[in-house]
Amino acid sequence: MSAISLKAIRKNYGTVTVIRRIDLEIESGEFVVLVGPSGCGKSTLLRMIAGLEEISGGDLVMGGRSIGHLPPAERNIAMVFQDYALYPHMSVEDNMSFGLKMRDADSAEIARKVKDASGILKLDPFLARLPAQLSGGQRQRVAMGRAIVRDPQAFLFDEPLSNLDAALRVEMRLEIARLHRRIKATTVYVTHDQVEAMTLADRIVVMNGGNMEQVGPPLELYRRPKTLFVAKFIGSPTMNTLECEVAGRAEASVRLRLPAGEVALPLEGAPTDLKRVTLGIRPEDLEVCAPDDAWFTGELSVVERLGSQTFGYLDIGRDRMITVEFPRASEVAVGQRVCVAGRPEHVHMFDPTSGIRLN
Ligand SMILES: Nc1ncnc2c1ncn2[C@@H]1O[C@H](COP(=O)(O)OP(=O)(O)OP(=O)(O)O)[C@@H](O)[C@H]1O
Ligand SMILES: [Mg+2]
Repeated sequence: MSAISLKAIRKNYGTVTVIRRIDLEIESGEFVVLVGPSGCGKSTLLRMIAGLEEISGGDLVMGGRSIGHLPPAERNIAMVFQDYALYPHMSVEDNMSFGLKMRDADSAEIARKVKDASGILKLDPFLARLPAQLSGGQRQRVAMGRAIVRDPQAFLFDEPLSNLDAALRVEMRLEIARLHRRIKATTVYVTHDQVEAMTLADRIVVMNGGNMEQVGPPLELYRRPKTLFVAKFIGSPTMNTLECEVAGRAEASVRLRLPAGEVALPLEGAPTDLKRVTLGIRPEDLEVCAPDDAWFTGELSVVERLGSQTFGYLDIGRDRMITVEFPRASEVAVGQRVCVAGRPEHVHMFDPTSGIRLN
């Protein structure tokens, strides 16, 4: 397996810039997940690594050599797509071996590799079937098998599970985690699914408009998002954010005017003329409290009971809504008035103009 370096990678289609600048060192065996809103350039970046899309600027280095100019077949990188792209008229076995046969591999060698991959992916009972005779999850495994038999230097996945139903998605997610533990392949994986990103990634890359917003281990991004954008993007349900006035400042703290009262929060090194702050607090970090301690007070307009979790949407007035995670046995009901507060150590603060983290 190989390390991959993206050095100042750029992409434009004519005058439209899609990737502004990506600098990323992916270690050998690392599992990197790309997330970001639709159109931010995730698929484009994967396709440039695979060689399916030309690189407009910068350098792509794999295993110590520059590969940006090589055609896809010479890069030894396997890509698994959302729609699987299996050959419909070929059996599972032929789908998996086709690429190797095209490269004139030795037939005993091909048979051994297909057998290995089918064992790992539990495809043995289906080798003679056509793709149309398989479930979505089984097809997805064939697509992965086809990638594995090539012994690639790296795997690229573009939303591989998004066509599957919820239960299968969970099953395949575990399958991919297991597979990665077993073959330790360098992997770049694109997903819109929070749980996939949090559970599979060694590091998550949050992309925004063709730039990298933040790169780090999943819990680091969850606990200390560097920007408001990352704060809103990582975590589900999304973090509550509210712009509020600074009521006073001391050496290492700030008093913020929240809808239900003032609160002093530790803050060092922020500009002394700071007038407004965007406060962020996750739904799971809010708790019901006495009215005197409240940060937010309002009526519950919706309550969602998911079994293991209960979420309430608190209408705090002026068209603002705060999401609160209640203990699962909580009997809160729609229409009820609730007071909630968080703890200072769970608060995220951002500059409202730049979106950059302050605390
Ligand atoms: N061939 C092309 N010509 C011009 N623009 C393109 C071309 N291909 C993609 N784009 C544009 O590049 C941007 C990035 O596209 P890309 O497919 O990489 O997004 P994405 O992050 O994968 O989005 P999604 O989450 O919806 O899959 C989009 O704005 C898209 O319209
Ligand atoms: Mg895409």
